[in-house]
Amino acid sequence: MHQVYDEMPIGVFDSGVGGLTVMREILKELPEEHILYLGDTARVPYGVRSPETVMKYSLENAKFLMSKGIKLLVVACNTSSAITLGMLREKIDVPVIGVVDPGARAAAAVTEMKRVAVIGTETTIKSGSYERAIKSIDDTIEVTGIACPLFVPLIEEGWLEGDVVNLTAGKYLSAIRSNSVDTLVLGCTHYPMIKNVIESIVHVPLIDSAVETAKEVKNVLELKNIIRKRAGEAARKFFVTDSPEKFILVGERFLDHEISNISKINLGST
Ligand code: DGL
Repeated sequence: MHQVYDEMPIGVFDSGVGGLTVMREILKELPEEHILYLGDTARVPYGVRSPETVMKYSLENAKFLMSKGIKLLVVACNTSSAITLGMLREKIDVPVIGVVDPGARAAAAVTEMKRVAVIGTETTIKSGSYERAIKSIDDTIEVTGIACPLFVPLIEEGWLEGDVVNLTAGKYLSAIRSNSVDTLVLGCTHYPMIKNVIESIVHVPLIDSAVETAKEVKNVLELKNIIRKRAGEAARKFFVTDSPEKFILVGERFLDHEISNISKINLGST
């Protein structure tokens, strides 16, 4: 039975293109796996929306991927992971992996001074999810959350280096420099794209939730014995809720891979 089940794809969803940084890491860890990716591009960004709205959109995304027959669901969006993971685990009948817990675990393991900073969207930081997850591992760790709402549009615009992104990052991250944290969590799908800029400002180890999540996906597939066992070409299929052209243009930078086999779908109010 497992042999048939393990041929099923992993489902990954995000509010848009950002989750492709998570998919990129999954492809590195698990190049043999079939993957279905859903980017809810008609309703992006999630990071400025209310928890109720993020819940509604996320459940629609998850149900769509479930309808395609997936063996595991990855919530690649930090905002969605921060808000909806408990709800999705109750409603969805396959293992559900978010990006917050793997990032939090890595941060707790790395910090020596027990002072961690997390950067993310407004909704992620307001939710306090990273802080709760880190403190549930070690409640003596101090966690500072900083919302960096301008990073997402800058990165989608392709401004990955230069004055604008340097100045913006300098302003957002000045609190980290003066707060003497020794670990910084990149708590948003987009931030790995400007890792170098962030690193040059904060000079502390960066935790990339995407990398940690890909390791977690591999662990869970192995533990449940549903890792794909047969060789043969791995299928990748993309779904978007708005026009595919922009997704392909921006997304290929995020994924570092060609994007083909893409369809537009309608979900809820899109
Ligand atoms: N994917 C979102 C996240 O990781 C960023 C983009 C958005 O706001 O939807 O939080």
